[in-house]
Amino acid sequence: VQKPSAIVFNSSYLANQTVLATLGRHMEHCLFISDAENHASMIEGMRASKRDKIIFRHNDMGHLAEILQTQSPERPKIIAFESVYSMSGTMAPIRDIVALAKQYNALTYCDEVHAVGLYGEHGGGLIAQVGASDGVDLINGTFAKAFGVIGGFVAGSEPLIDFIRSHAEGFIFTTSLPPSNCAAIIKSIETVGNEPETRRIFHQNIVLFRKLLDQMDIPYQGRDAHITRIVIGDSQRCKTLTDRLLFEHGIYLQPINFPTVARGEESMRVIVSARHHDFQIEQLALALKTVLS
Ligand SMILES: Cc1ncc(COP(=O)(O)O)c(C=O)c1O
Repeated sequence: VQKPSAIVFNSSYLANQTVLATLGRHMEHCLFISDAENHASMIEGMRASKRDKIIFRHNDMGHLAEILQTQSPERPKIIAFESVYSMSGTMAPIRDIVALAKQYNALTYCDEVHAVGLYGEHGGGLIAQVGASDGVDLINGTFAKAFGVIGGFVAGSEPLIDFIRSHAEGFIFTTSLPPSNCAAIIKSIETVGNEPETRRIFHQNIVLFRKLLDQMDIPYQGRDAHITRIVIGDSQRCKTLTDRLLFEHGIYLQPINFPTVARGEESMRVIVSARHHDFQIEQLALALKTVLS
């Protein structure tokens, strides 16, 4: 077993982009096998490496296995995926991906940006929650979102992280985070790790919000994770609805339009926080009911 290590970047976007580009460039004939819903930063990194890429259908393990079967065991392969998907709120079958990677001799790279701080006993993420920490080779996470600061990281075995530190251009050729920011990150990690009660309230608030949506017959997607998506299917209507929420109800939801989602899948994405009170969640559900009907 190799010692774990990590490297900090100015953002998780930069981490994804530069780490995947660096790995691809330095691994001859490397093949990326990428989930269809992967984030733009991962797509950019794989593209910049100029290596081959095959996309597997979102969370489709049969398709992933089919692709792996066509490759020789000697060819370097990296399976790139997210643990919690930012737009659909789906969760990856992490243990199945790890099992396939082991069977077909592939590395695994997972973006946990939407999971760190929110899942796992100490907020370590979904990989920790499902007990797969030893099975994923590289884990990317953010210090923004749940941690409320800024910055990103990649964690993995010491030799892999050392390699990234020595070769990743997005690490070498940029100013590092200032000490004040790092102090805030350290404090935030301590708080997130030591306050499971906040995480419990967070998940309880999501359950309340979805119960209200169910009672009001408001259809939504994403029952697995904390991301609730109300598909509108039209960019203009989506913008009008979010404007009405803001100006008539004092609630800010960002409209999610193309290119963040495909045309026809324009949505309102809702993430209630641990700091929201029940009455605010009720107000939100009522306001949604009003503007949608
Ligand atoms: C899945 C995913 N990965 C990476 C990022 C980038 O994270 P950061 O804001 O730390 O650059 C985002 C969005 O911010 C994201 O949704």
